[in-house]
Amino acid sequence: MKLIYFGHSAFQIETGASTLLFDPFITGNGLAEGVIDVDSLSPDVILLTHAHFDHWGDTMDIAKRSGALIVGNHEITEYVQKNGYENVQPMNIGGSWSFEWGTLTMTYARHSSSFPDGTYGGNPNGYVLSTEGICVYNSGDTGPFSEMSWIGEDHSIDLALLPIGDLFTMGLAGAVRAARMLKPKLTVPLHFDTYPPIQADTSSWQERMKTAGLSSRILKPGEQLDL
Ligand code: NI
Ligand code: MN
Repeated sequence: MKLIYFGHSAFQIETGASTLLFDPFITGNGLAEGVIDVDSLSPDVILLTHAHFDHWGDTMDIAKRSGALIVGNHEITEYVQKNGYENVQPMNIGGSWSFEWGTLTMTYARHSSSFPDGTYGGNPNGYVLSTEGICVYNSGDTGPFSEMSWIGEDHSIDLALLPIGDLFTMGLAGAVRAARMLKPKLTVPLHFDTYPPIQADTSSWQERMKTAGLSSRILKPGEQLDL
């Protein structure tokens, strides 16, 4: 299985059988330009952590073209259906569901959520994905919260994807605190450097992670991680 990072919080996981696309903000994402052509994306599944423009992004265009299943909270899938697209799987926080491509648990995220047109987007969330014997946790936009330690106890996380850009999400110290609770084998940062206010000192963050005994890796937009 491999993960390809598109910048910001957008990435794709390719298992042997399926392609899973998370928070496909490509158009308008300066980090994705020259890295991925949005028209080339053909996922089987699109997974959304919340409805903010920098996550919702190109969801409808990609879905209508590819026929992908859209997974999100109730308010997101309802919004999608009102837009005339029916291939959805609603979930809500604390719930798990087994799909043919893996098992998903929707987790809490401490953030807010509304669509670009102002429609309420429900509670933001993260995901724990187990597929091909590998466990991936994508926190979504969030600050640290103490129940992350439960997520770390309940799942043996191989890879955690955590925001580090600060201002709208946790920053460097918050992401280290989160990783200490989650105890992942590896942490990859998201949601940084897309805009000047969320520029992050990634070497300082990696240094702090190392001091805490935690492994980290920075993915450049377009870079692939084999798991
Ligand atoms: Ni957000
Ligand atoms: Mn965001």
